[in-house]
Amino acid sequence: MFVENTVRERYSEGARERQEALCCPVDYDRELLKRLPQEIIDKDYGCGDPSLYVQEGDTVLDLGSGGGKICYMAAQLVGPEGLVIGVDMNDDMLGLARKYQPEMAEKLGGDRVRFVKGYIQDLALDVEAMEAYLAEHPVTDAASLAALKAWQTRQRRERPLIADHSVDLVISNCVLNLVGDGDKNQLVEEIFRVLKPGGRVAISDIVADEPVPQHLKDDPTLWSGCISGAFEEREFIRAFERAGFGAVCLDRWEAEPWQVVEGIEFRAVTLVAFKGWGRECIDRGHAVIYRGPYTEVRDEEGHVFPRGERIAVCERTFRTLTEGPCRKHFIGIEPKTLAAPIAWCAPHGTRRSPKETKGGRQIVECGGEKCC
Ligand SMILES: C[S@@+](CC[C@H](N)C(=O)[O-])C[C@H]1O[C@@H](n2cnc3c(N)ncnc32)[C@H](O)[C@@H]1O
Repeated sequence: MFVENTVRERYSEGARERQEALCCPVDYDRELLKRLPQEIIDKDYGCGDPSLYVQEGDTVLDLGSGGGKICYMAAQLVGPEGLVIGVDMNDDMLGLARKYQPEMAEKLGGDRVRFVKGYIQDLALDVEAMEAYLAEHPVTDAASLAALKAWQTRQRRERPLIADHSVDLVISNCVLNLVGDGDKNQLVEEIFRVLKPGGRVAISDIVADEPVPQHLKDDPTLWSGCISGAFEEREFIRAFERAGFGAVCLDRWEAEPWQVVEGIEFRAVTLVAFKGWGRECIDRGHAVIYRGPYTEVRDEEGHVFPRGERIAVCERTFRTLTEGPCRKHFIGIEPKTLAAPIAWCAPHGTRRSPKETKGGRQIVECGGEKCC
């Protein structure tokens, strides 16, 4: 509650008036900013640019959308077939973002953006619907509290704010650090839940280079200022690995820290990750070759790929390595004839004889291009 109320008050102020202390300089794409209202550009509290990862046709979910800057930038990139959903818990921020929706719909030739009220660590709960329920059924005693909890469970199951497997790309700009430490794992699990198989993540956030001591975490100004709630840099990566993401990568890293407090450096980074194609292993005779430049690489599931070796993989791992963000590093070799499906995975490191795959289609993402 301490975290939630402190953060709510700080960003209500930020919606009313620009807060210099919350502004971290970011070099956004000027072309995309041209169509944005000046007030949205001024009330920018981001620390990176996850819009760089948006593709045409994507359904994009922006966690902690604030004034809507990244949503309105993404709306220009997804095109008429795409959709952008911004989630925020703060009424004043939602009001600011929604104020410009008609104007932006006209400029973009279509309304491709929705702003919804929710907690990013509980993306199934529709907070506006809950507030309507509470107006009619105020919580006054243990029985009405139990009724609220039962309503929440039903609502999450039957009318989730963000449904399972419904999003192509989850983005966020300087928000994960504001979520209480006890809720951070659930937050990353929620990101995994809402992504489609093959979905992507691009999170710009502040990370700490050392563990943050409790007295800094207890400071409301440092916490709500996107500083002391930051993930420790290695824990940021691990949280995504634990939730089941693959190809987790620190794609951007600001050499200059944004703030230094008691010798701890707090800097902006952008993490990208990929949700694979399910968990079931079906071996049908596929192989991949890791191109290099390292002698070998190991994925999150423990498969080891020595450079230049044909390694047996199940269909799911094959798709993940040849369609996901690692595809430039692997050559995919399909069997000439698909083997009968067998529900197993060859033991890690098993080589696939060329005799098994000769004549099969080869997937070579960057033939002739420099790819390592
Ligand atoms: C630092 S601002 C960033 C806003 C926006 N992403 C930008 O780039 O300007 C953080 C935003 O996240 C929202 N927020 C913080 N914690 C949240 C939570 N647990 N659930 C939903 N929104 C949250 C705040 O209300 C605020 O609008």
